[in-house]
Amino acid sequence: MFGFKLSVLFFAVFSLSKCSGRFVYSCKYPPSQWCDSEDIAAECGVLEQCMKFNVTKPNADKVNVSLYYESLCPGCRGFLVGQLLPTFIMLSEIMNVDLVPYGNAQEKEDQGKYTFICQHGEGECQGNMIETCLLDKLGMDALFVIFCMESGTDVLKAAQPCLAIYNPEITWDSVMKCVTGDQGNKLMHGNAVKTNALKPPHVYVPWITINGEHTDDLQNKAMTSLFSLVCSLYKGEKPAACTLGLKKETTSYCMK
Ligand SMILES: *[C@@H]1O[C@H](CO)[C@@H](O)[C@H](O)[C@H]1NC(C)=O
Ligand SMILES: *[C@@H]1O[C@H](CO)[C@@H](O)[C@H](O)[C@H]1NC(C)=O
Repeated sequence: MFGFKLSVLFFAVFSLSKCSGRFVYSCKYPPSQWCDSEDIAAECGVLEQCMKFNVTKPNADKVNVSLYYESLCPGCRGFLVGQLLPTFIMLSEIMNVDLVPYGNAQEKEDQGKYTFICQHGEGECQGNMIETCLLDKLGMDALFVIFCMESGTDVLKAAQPCLAIYNPEITWDSVMKCVTGDQGNKLMHGNAVKTNALKPPHVYVPWITINGEHTDDLQNKAMTSLFSLVCSLYKGEKPAACTLGLKKETTSYCMK
């Protein structure tokens, strides 16, 4: 079974509790604001951790991490849940994340509309589309809803409750309007164009680029410990979090 492969540190920092297959947290602020002030940190029960991990001011270009993936690929889910989100929470001051849900899908054009065939079937196309629409509406905050979806047993069924937990201000109807409408169709075409423009072209997912570059070495390092890779590539003063490590993860791929 796909496990909740979160690092011990991540648990320690964000005190997430597992609740009927989904993660919930216990204060009214989104995770991105938890360390914004001592009051918020205290209310969310992470004061000590925020003090410890409060990062230094960034003074160099952020490390750009792009993930080309598909919503139902086990290796993609493992990377998103076990590496990408924990790393982003710890290092958001020194990294940018770009998610491109499409992966090994294929598209066909018919009179200006696109249809998609996905590696893990129709459900995966639906998952990719939901996540694409969430990213369009929420920007990087969508990472939390996507994490919640990908860490549940049923990615699609988790979508609506996950949105309600993390972004109750966004209605499910508005997401579905994007998913079933022209907007989602155009956005997914954009993902296809972006994925097909990769150099070198991707041969599996999750496919990672770092500052726009993909090499076997960067891929292996990202899959083993994205956290260490981002810390090592950041040219500015390293944030305090970088002096600690995250546990290594095992990797798996979905071949094209
Ligand atoms: C973390 O640092 C920021 C900026 O220096 C500060 O505004 C904030 O209050 C700090 N958070 C905590 C919990 O001390
Ligand atoms: C990351 O991307 C931004 C915006 O696209 C760019 O300005 C920056 O130089 C990139 N960072 C690195 C380390 O290349």
